[in-house]
Amino acid sequence: MNDDARTRLTRVAAAILITIALTAGLVLWNPVGLYDWFKAFHIIAVIAWMAGMLYLPRLFVYHAAAEPGSAQSETFKVMERRLLRAIINPAMVATWVLGLWLAWTAGFFASPWLHAKLALVVVMAGVHGFFVRCVRDFAMDRNTRPQRFYRMINEVPTLLMIAIVILVVVKPF
Ligand code: HEM
Repeated sequence: MNDDARTRLTRVAAAILITIALTAGLVLWNPVGLYDWFKAFHIIAVIAWMAGMLYLPRLFVYHAAAEPGSAQSETFKVMERRLLRAIINPAMVATWVLGLWLAWTAGFFASPWLHAKLALVVVMAGVHGFFVRCVRDFAMDRNTRPQRFYRMINEVPTLLMIAIVILVVVKPF
């Protein structure tokens, strides 16, 4: 491992430890309104996750048209890698941790709307996993999927997000 990678790893480890310490401190302290604070952070994490999940396939659309090895293609590689590592991955983890904490605290685990929401969030996580594979394929100049494919897959996170938000806000069943 080179110095750059070691510094990055140290920063990530420090960020994770600080987040765990702050969360544990808040849960032990249990101040009035903690549920609402965590719900606010859950929504912030959801916004960051969704922003990345909507933007990344847009990058794939343009990247698929760029000549492998060109300066443009190399720029897309950096943008995709940074978006995934700095925003999408941590935001997904925060969304899950805070969402599960909310569900457990409020006793929603027996509610059918939550089961439906969780099923759709698992599909969203699957799409996320697929995007990770696409980023790897592009990074190794191995993409074989056409632009049209990425235009279509671009709509999947949007449709899932609409259904998830309706389920949690309206709670129809
Ligand atoms: C990762 C698994 C997730 C779990 C376990 C989860 C669970 C929850 C729970 C229990 C609440 C509080 C509901 C209430 O107090 O009435 C909540 C709020 C919310 N969640 Fe999630 N969630 C998850 C992921 C998501 C995702 C992916 C989205 C959007 C795409 C989302 C959007 C929202 C919104 C907008 C609210 C606020 C609803 C309101 O206050 O009326 N959640 N979530």
